[in-house]
Amino acid sequence: MKGIILAGGSGTRLHPLTKITNKHLLPVYDRPMIYYPLETLVEAGIEDIMLVTGGNHAGEFLKLLGNGREFGLKHLNYTYQERAGGIAEALGLTQHFAGGDKVVVMLGDNLIQDSLREAVQAFEAQPEGAKILLKAVPNPMEYGVAELQGDRIVGIEEKPRQPKSNLAVIGIYFYDAQVFDVIQTLEPSLRGELEITDVNNAYLQRGQLAHELVRGWWGDAGESIEALLRVSNLVADWRVQ
Ligand code: G1P
Repeated sequence: MKGIILAGGSGTRLHPLTKITNKHLLPVYDRPMIYYPLETLVEAGIEDIMLVTGGNHAGEFLKLLGNGREFGLKHLNYTYQERAGGIAEALGLTQHFAGGDKVVVMLGDNLIQDSLREAVQAFEAQPEGAKILLKAVPNPMEYGVAELQGDRIVGIEEKPRQPKSNLAVIGIYFYDAQVFDVIQTLEPSLRGELEITDVNNAYLQRGQLAHELVRGWWGDAGESIEALLRVSNLVADWRVQ
């Protein structure tokens, strides 16, 4: 399985911090944000990783991460998103790299306490389709939200005004190679982006969307300044334990 980290976007929700840098380079406790998803994928046994970035500060990732040797990687792959076209568009840029393999996709601002090792192994064994991870949150309207009937997902809404549950779809996704065909069929949303929620709903309609609940803490450090502070504190508490 290949790993993909999405680290583009304009980071407007973190202005003015992101006026002169990419949000994924901001500090979370004692490291740049981007270190965490990279460590998570490497710890889960993923060796082939591509980072998608964009904007004016893309070169800084190369300076910071190089070939990923600090993380135990032999090499690290990069690609460039030319406009803020959304998560699904960024993922579409990695088709050549994925080369027909399954992929695990992490948003560069998503930090998670749990190891992904078991989820990666389980998805390797899943014959086809996709898998998403869910976490109960107090502020679901900031995220993609899954509606469940029993243990079955029946729909996902992106940032709903009236969420049908408190279960956020976190920014870690598992896809088979069909994902690149699905992305081709998407239309931009009202915010002008190709939405990852539309990709997940397409798999749901095919009856091919598995899910799992996350046990430990999870945070989207790019959601707001408050979230950046909250996630930094979660990491700090966790480290000192
Ligand atoms: C994105 C996704 C959303 C998901 C969230 C997780 O939102 O669109 O479905 O719940 O990441 O962090 P964004 O942070 O890009 O607005």
